[in-house]
Amino acid sequence: MNKRTALEALSLRPPAFLRSRWPWRSLAYLVSSALPGALLGLTAMAVSLLESVPGRVVAGLAAVVAVLAPVAGFERRRLRLVDTVAVPKTPGGRWRGIGLALVSLLALWWIDLVMVGFTVGGPVLLILSPLVQPLAPEGELTLAQTLVVSMAGVLLLPAAVYTFTAWAGARGAMARGLLTSRETELNEVLRSRARLVDAFEMERRRIERDLHDGAQQRLAALSMKLGLARLDLPPGSPLGEQLAQAHQEAKRAMAKLRELIRGMHPQVLTDRGLPAAVRDVASRSPIPVDIDIPLDDRLPMAVEVAAFYVVSEALANIAKHSRASRALVRGQVTGRMLLLEIRDDGAGGADPSKGTGLTGLADRLAVVDGRMSLSSPAGGPTLMRVEIPCA
Ligand SMILES: Nc1ncnc2c1ncn2[C@@H]1O[C@H](COP(=O)(O)OP(=O)(O)O)[C@@H](O)[C@H]1O
Ligand SMILES: [Mg+2]
Repeated sequence: MNKRTALEALSLRPPAFLRSRWPWRSLAYLVSSALPGALLGLTAMAVSLLESVPGRVVAGLAAVVAVLAPVAGFERRRLRLVDTVAVPKTPGGRWRGIGLALVSLLALWWIDLVMVGFTVGGPVLLILSPLVQPLAPEGELTLAQTLVVSMAGVLLLPAAVYTFTAWAGARGAMARGLLTSRETELNEVLRSRARLVDAFEMERRRIERDLHDGAQQRLAALSMKLGLARLDLPPGSPLGEQLAQAHQEAKRAMAKLRELIRGMHPQVLTDRGLPAAVRDVASRSPIPVDIDIPLDDRLPMAVEVAAFYVVSEALANIAKHSRASRALVRGQVTGRMLLLEIRDDGAGGADPSKGTGLTGLADRLAVVDGRMSLSSPAGGPTLMRVEIPCA
């Protein structure tokens, strides 16, 4: 399944996790801590060349201040290794980055390296023991014994992989926490299977009731009348044959009606795909909408339908609540993921708990294994981001 962070990847089943790219990404993330470490070491060396002690202090502080901004940029960029969700750019973001750089330079870099050293170094040493242990003479290990030690190293490796991935994930979460404020962070709108089942079940019952009280009653009455009319005719009459056909037809119409409940979506979506359907809804929006969906191929039906409902609800919300002057809908497929972004330059303050539309969308997305995040600080702008796997 699509995992977005190293921490989330830990919940994969062990074989899938061990074969995934997450352990490697985590390792790269931790090992790259050598860079800020080296920078600090170089600075310390350069400063120690100075003669006067106050000079050293001043030069040391100046050097640390000078490297903070580049280190902040580095931290921000390498966070993508363990957390693939972009960190939104915010006004206070610069200072937050500096804060993270400071923590990284003072403490995190060496903790990362020690962590890698212990978790990976230990098993690797054990595995290599047949090569590094001198063999045989009195008191030394025999070949068989060293092979057992080596095997133990191999068995320890998976545990090591879990340990350093967990640390990299936790460290990534910490970095993200430092870089973003709660307000502007893209927050996942939580989906709930229980709510989903409830919502679907209620909707299904409502439609069933409507059909039962309305269309189906009429069709049943028609069907019955046709049945009665057949009884009034002498057997074998040609009219009777036609009535029998009409009777069958009425029954088929009833069956068809029930079938219809299952798949209701606009014709343009079925016929011409997502970009055309989005243009269609956008053309009815009172607020101008820019559209950027460079899709050539059709996507699986379920994905298109889910994406279409997302765009419809988002544009309806923009028209109803945002007081925006413009909106933008972007869609693209990267790898096997459809990524949709809907922005507006309105007043912000979208809150899933204040209505039913957004939570309903999250539930609908859960069915296709998609997810939705929302960033909408008071004062705007509002960004809704949706990912749907197309595999
Ligand atoms: N684009 C937006 N800009 C500003 N506020 C929004 C936006 N979208 C939603 N909201 C706010 O979030 C609330 C929840 O939205 P939603 O779940 O769609 O419920 P509904 O549209 O039924 O009110 C809305 O009532 C509105 O106050
Ligand atoms: Mg709504």
